[in-house]
Amino acid sequence: MEPIKIGLCGLGTVAQGTLEVLRRNQSEIERRVGSPVKVTCAGVRTDKPDVDLSGIRVERDMLAVATAADVDIVVELIGGTDLALKLVMAAIEAGKGVVTANKALIAIHGNEIFAAAQARGVMVAFEAAVAGGIPIIKAIREGLSANRIQWLAGIINGTGNFILTEMSEKGRAFDEVLAEAQALGYAEADPTFDVEGIDAAHKLTILASIAFGVPLQFDACYTEGIGALTPADVANADQLGYKIKHLGVAKRTGGGIELRVHPTLMPKNRLLSNVNGVLNALQVQGDAVGPTTYTGPGAGGEPTASAVVADIVDVARTLTADPLNRVPHLAFHADALGGEPI
Ligand code: HSE
Repeated sequence: MEPIKIGLCGLGTVAQGTLEVLRRNQSEIERRVGSPVKVTCAGVRTDKPDVDLSGIRVERDMLAVATAADVDIVVELIGGTDLALKLVMAAIEAGKGVVTANKALIAIHGNEIFAAAQARGVMVAFEAAVAGGIPIIKAIREGLSANRIQWLAGIINGTGNFILTEMSEKGRAFDEVLAEAQALGYAEADPTFDVEGIDAAHKLTILASIAFGVPLQFDACYTEGIGALTPADVANADQLGYKIKHLGVAKRTGGGIELRVHPTLMPKNRLLSNVNGVLNALQVQGDAVGPTTYTGPGAGGEPTASAVVADIVDVARTLTADPLNRVPHLAFHADALGGEPI
């Protein structure tokens, strides 16, 4: 049987995790897809001699991966919004399925990307863009699709939560913990995105679009980070019986959908107060189901690769001829393009 052919763009923490998970769990993954899955091509800008690329064609020109004859699904893990946008649009134009973990790309250019994907009839999957390994996109879009979502709230930046946890539990200095988060591969290439709440705002924009059927509108999100918090703030909150958590909140109001990310004082006995380290957690309130909670690793190589590979499986299933494994084309954007204003 012909394999589903993957073009992997980028060779950072998440891409390395993706290669590892695809190799380690190959038989499970292929059983779920219903055909062989093979990484045929890797778009690489910076050589990483430690990464095993045996049997994979290395392509220096990232855009060439988008149109390569030996690629069915382009996996965009290069980050940023310039080359990534060109790459994803070129892949869609070439009729390839796309998987991306790039929250900035989806939050800022998603409306354009999904319109193009819809016109071309290809799937763009982005589970890994929000909350690392937690399958929150699928939970809201599929698991809660019967519900009118009333609000959602949670911790959606692992680096920020790691910093606040270490400051609170161990009295460590902000900069020292941030450096550790960078070394562990949790932080963005530009860690300002984590510290100033921009990364959380990207993710909240995406979640709100799916939950409420509104267009992606990153500029509508009130954004405040944790950069101004001091050890004294954390200690004072603790003395008063609170934790400081950086939350993203999206909810219906009389005037539309409110989107905000900011530090929040939470009583210590609340569930989100006890979500520590790189973990993320989300609470989603639906009118039929009531409150639901999702938690898990919000960043890191293999946790994020878990979501990337799940998306590869989903996109591959749209391409497989095996009717037992085929899933319908999941186009959340049909919803997002026609929803109510923020
Ligand atoms: N820098 C992000 C975080 C990575 O710390 O949450 C996962 O999106």
